[in-house]
Amino acid sequence: MKKTCIIGSGYVGLVSGACFAELGNKVILIDNDAKKIKALKNNQVPIYEPGLDKLLKKNKSRISFSTNINEGILNSDIIFICVGTPPREDGSADLSSVERVATEIARNMNGYKLIVDKSTVPVETGEWVKTTIERNMAKKTPFDVASNPEFLREGTAIHDFLNPDRVVIGVSSKEAERILTELYKPLKAPIVVTDIKSAELIKHASNSFLAMKISFINSVANVCEKVGADVTKVAEGMGMDKRIGKTFLNAGPGFGGFCFPKDLEAFYWISKKLGYNFGILQEVKKVNEDQKKLIAKKIEDALWIIKDKTIAFLGLAFKPNTDDMRMAPSIDIINILHKKGAIIKAYDPESMGKAKTDMPFVKYCKNPLEVCKDADCVVLMTEWEEFKNLDFKKIRSIVKQPILIDTRNYYNPQTMKQLGYIYKGVGR
Ligand code: UGA
Repeated sequence: MKKTCIIGSGYVGLVSGACFAELGNKVILIDNDAKKIKALKNNQVPIYEPGLDKLLKKNKSRISFSTNINEGILNSDIIFICVGTPPREDGSADLSSVERVATEIARNMNGYKLIVDKSTVPVETGEWVKTTIERNMAKKTPFDVASNPEFLREGTAIHDFLNPDRVVIGVSSKEAERILTELYKPLKAPIVVTDIKSAELIKHASNSFLAMKISFINSVANVCEKVGADVTKVAEGMGMDKRIGKTFLNAGPGFGGFCFPKDLEAFYWISKKLGYNFGILQEVKKVNEDQKKLIAKKIEDALWIIKDKTIAFLGLAFKPNTDDMRMAPSIDIINILHKKGAIIKAYDPESMGKAKTDMPFVKYCKNPLEVCKDADCVVLMTEWEEFKNLDFKKIRSIVKQPILIDTRNYYNPQTMKQLGYIYKGVGR
């Protein structure tokens, strides 16, 4: 059993903490948001992530929560930095929380500590953390810094953490390698041991590559539309080549969420700072921005005059099984349509509470039928399971016009046409 401290009880911190406890370790979860810690102490989980509440409850005896960072540092051997690294206006990552935590650790060390960065950070952050600790140490104490990027996805975070394709460990000492290898041993996953800078780069490069795959297939989809080809078939044919792989080839409204857009920008920025113009990343971003405009245009083209038309959105979140609205493509698309005078209705199983802040003008509905009633156009925005088997025959009888825009290629075009819909997918 290892004594671990997780500083930052956000998405990555909470899931990692619950999973490390599940593996038998003692975990102290720290956050400076007193409201959040109070809620967690009362068994309330501040984010929507399937299974997280159960896992925290199951491992309650090994998990404690605190706002006191010193308590966490004094009572643990391994300290994970899981604080946010939000984008600054110029696209670079704001590392002030990482610096603040490193300074706190330096001032409160009471023996050897392994300080592991799990937040997504630009290359060379590990070096800065090490320097910051050395400069702020109250008395000389041995320590190691390591990088251990996280690859979990929202919505499947616990499964991803406990069943990773690989665990990446960036270290500069044998001791750090030994501690982290032992910590992750129960997962029985391949472990990539490397230097700290390479580990930091693996994270930025992986997210940027996946974003590039999505922008690539969206571009292919746009060519498919020009000639009447089917992008789902093109992706299937491409994906069967093992070198390409089947995943992340679903054309759609563009990627969203807090990770891909932010990491793409941060990777471009740090490369530029280091003297390399990583231009391909700029193009990936541009294709993604254009894709949202193309979806809005598709809706507009189907409706002819958009002013005063009612558009019903099935789903708002950037993907299913999350309530996260950060950078969701629905926001840009809805704003374009709203500015042109359309009346917007929406239903999402989880994200409406958060969506209201960004889009107060939307009429939020209680269920799929209520949202579709009297709509001139229905837009499938997020591929929630709940929308898979909707009664589209019934929906056909309550909409004003039978126009269905399927931004995720979620439905069978032939079935929808037989039901009397004017159906438009993406790239087919
Ligand atoms: C992503 C990565 O997949 C994780 O490995 C990583 O740990 C995480 O970022 C992070 O850095 O924290 P996440 O943002 O939760 O995870 O979501 P994804 O499932 O990767 O989806 C991202 C976006 O791409 C969504 O908007 C999704 O709809 C879109 N997408 C995904 C497509 O449009 N097409 C695809 O084929 C796949």
